[in-house]
Amino acid sequence: MNRRWFIKILLALGLGAYFPSLAEASRLDELHTPQDGYQPLTSVKFLRQVITRDSRTSRTLMWSSEEPSQVEWQLVGEESAHFAAVTQRNSICSCTLTNLKPASLYRFRITAGTRATSWQKLLTAGDGAFQMLIFADSQCERYEVWQRTADIAAEIFPEAELVTVIGDLVDNGQADYQWRAWHLAATKILSGRTFAPVMGNHECYGVDWFNALPTGYLEQFALPDNGAKNFRGYFYSFDYGAAHFVALNTQFAELDALKTGLQSAQEFFLRRDIANANRPWNVVLMHKDIYDYAQDTFNDIAEKFLELFDELAIDVVFTGHLHTYRNRGKIFARTKSSHGTTYVMCGRAGDQRYVEPHSAIDDVTASDLRGEAESFIALNISADELHLTCRTVDGKILDDFTLTKPTRHPYGQR
Ligand SMILES: [Fe+2]
Repeated sequence: MNRRWFIKILLALGLGAYFPSLAEASRLDELHTPQDGYQPLTSVKFLRQVITRDSRTSRTLMWSSEEPSQVEWQLVGEESAHFAAVTQRNSICSCTLTNLKPASLYRFRITAGTRATSWQKLLTAGDGAFQMLIFADSQCERYEVWQRTADIAAEIFPEAELVTVIGDLVDNGQADYQWRAWHLAATKILSGRTFAPVMGNHECYGVDWFNALPTGYLEQFALPDNGAKNFRGYFYSFDYGAAHFVALNTQFAELDALKTGLQSAQEFFLRRDIANANRPWNVVLMHKDIYDYAQDTFNDIAEKFLELFDELAIDVVFTGHLHTYRNRGKIFARTKSSHGTTYVMCGRAGDQRYVEPHSAIDDVTASDLRGEAESFIALNISADELHLTCRTVDGKILDDFTLTKPTRHPYGQR
């Protein structure tokens, strides 16, 4: 019996928890099976393709390893291969590929001498229709639950190109073991897809559980520059296909005492960013929600953003944080409306359960709030339509709706 089968049998017997290194080896098996006569480069772990501002022409590759290495990459179908240098800091490696062709399939691998990872798929964004997967609150006590949510989504929606987790990726942002468990669980969902993370409040806790700067999160993901020197990586924007996305930061309660000026920096950024955006759809991703369900009223986050989103005509805002799926439909001037911004709060992808009361503001809620299962959203965006499906891990459709643009918006003109 070879080693791979021995590991598979142990895992099938449910013994993975007793042999965490075997569970890790099994999860990283595909990455550690090189082609072309290379030996496995097993020091490479937790590979992710991180979003760049122009996802059509560039991609940032990141992974964990203590070894020097380089990236070999090529357009699929072309003979010539290219090599790119890697920067390494605190065992986190990073390499940004640039001048890529839009809507094209590339492959890359990480090499060190005679050792390499397997070839990995890299798909650059185009200008038109695409599918993405949205998760929130993957924080866990047992990351097998996040892994199950992510793996089910990957299996049902294999064509999804872009993945986001809208905050609280991990339970404690400065605990290394949490990041390792999160990445290992995300191996399948992040393989061959672009990842756009959003910071949540749990990324802003130290191991002593006091508020802390989000150093763990910022180390994990090298994100597009927002021009704000003091808040690099805290918020950012990017284009993908027919949509422009802005990932905002709602951690005022955690960060304001540690670093001042988050809201003014974001407002300055957001106004300028949306003024320059030229995609048919403008979508905001931010962790904390706009509603206080206990008091049945808009909350302090709504105070900071609702008027701004009205003014900038944001199409859809996705939030998380309360671990329950809610679709509030369109809201304009703090009132439910036939026009304005659609507000969707994602359910949880991890194992931390909260129960929030019903409210008349919701158009759609889970029918059994106490038993609400982990869920995720599949979003299909084209120039004319945005179609959302929210599914639980046990296959229930919680929501399904389509937004349309009244007229076609040629790029460069809204
Ligand atoms: Fe949260």
